[in-house]
Amino acid sequence: MDSIRVQGTAPLQGKVKIQGSKNAALPILAASLLMEGQVLLENVPKISDVYGMLHILEELGCHVRWERELLRVDSRRAKLGGISAELAKSMRSSIFLLGPMLSRFHEVTMEYPGGCVIGKRPIDLHLEALRRMGVQFVDENGQLRASVKALHPAALELPFPSVGATENVIMAAVKTEGVTLLRGAAREPEVQVLCEFLNSCGASILGIGTNFLRIEGVKHLRETRFRIPSDRIVAGTYLLAGFSCGGSMFLEEAPLRHMEAVCSVAQKMGATLTVSENGIYAQFPERAGELPLVRTNIYPGFPTDLQSVLLAVRCTGRGKTLVQENIFENRFRIIDELKKMGACFRMVNEREVEVTGVPKLLGASMEARELRGGAALVVAALGAKGESRISGRRFIDRGYENICRDLRELGARIVSE
Ligand code: UD1
Repeated sequence: MDSIRVQGTAPLQGKVKIQGSKNAALPILAASLLMEGQVLLENVPKISDVYGMLHILEELGCHVRWERELLRVDSRRAKLGGISAELAKSMRSSIFLLGPMLSRFHEVTMEYPGGCVIGKRPIDLHLEALRRMGVQFVDENGQLRASVKALHPAALELPFPSVGATENVIMAAVKTEGVTLLRGAAREPEVQVLCEFLNSCGASILGIGTNFLRIEGVKHLRETRFRIPSDRIVAGTYLLAGFSCGGSMFLEEAPLRHMEAVCSVAQKMGATLTVSENGIYAQFPERAGELPLVRTNIYPGFPTDLQSVLLAVRCTGRGKTLVQENIFENRFRIIDELKKMGACFRMVNEREVEVTGVPKLLGASMEARELRGGAALVVAALGAKGESRISGRRFIDRGYENICRDLRELGARIVSE
């Protein structure tokens, strides 16, 4: 049960509701450790990365309960404990536990975080910022051990606006007495959401949405109820999927405000987008129009998490496209899989690839090796002639609640098996 089978070329038609955001939910779940009470979260996506994080929270003594669509996390009885090596290794987001654990317990020992195979993904920026707040790190038999007598505030500047490092500093600082200043902070919507969540618990964070945050420590954080916004990457995946085989779709609850870059690319490729109060209606041309260049960048630039999906769509678009990846190295690993379908690529250098659109791809057997690359293979298969089979569904399940169900809602012929 780890594969997806797709019969390609049926035009898409229908409506799909966009799930809650993975990258917003994960740090918020980690931040629940900072509470002396419960948090009630709505719209948490039911994906394996979330289950992994909940598992870790339970290991740490938190009480976790789903009440239909509402998730209750009670961290009153949390205690210092080991974080399961297997989970920490398999999830990059386990790094989010550093800030909250240090704030609450003053120490933590964990495996170095894992996650997708899309580059080296070091954690030096996290460690350096936390060091400046008094934390000491040592390598203990291949594990990361962090400890601090008492966190102290600091004036920090990130040399690169890392999303995770920004989130870790925020979580470490919210209950640290005094004012922490963070320059060079990431501005991704998920960082903004984490700040809004913490402020709803009584934290004092100013500068939300800018690259300069001012965090004044408070003694306590109180219980709250909070809604996780929709996932801009999932919405972008389905929007781009429309170019694979044409048709039209309504993306219910797509977070339009945070999708400017992908909507602009979709329009350049010939989609007509109509925005309504609760979503986006999109109509697609039979074949994606020309797009000479796309570059990934930090928010509000084109998101790296949608680069692979766009690459898949450009395989059958008109003309040549130069795709430049500026955030993660190693995000072109799906090229070999797409070539099995007849796609035409030229590697320009490590960061750039040129795609020449062919009229049709042919169904093939492919292997997903990471989350977004896996979703991209599914998108390519939707428009391919004949049947495709994609193994490694577990990688896609890390971030998509049920990609087969969602695409079936849009009329695709796709099943998991
Ligand atoms: C988060 C997202 C991920 C998204 C990425 C960029 C989550 C769970 N994941 O990942 O989906 O693709 O933002 O928008 O929210 N870097 C360092 N040292 C560090 C930290 C990062 O060199 O200490 C580098 C990374 O290797 C990468 C770049 O900075 O090249 C961006 O990483 P970062 O913004 O930290 O991404 P993540 O938080 O890991």
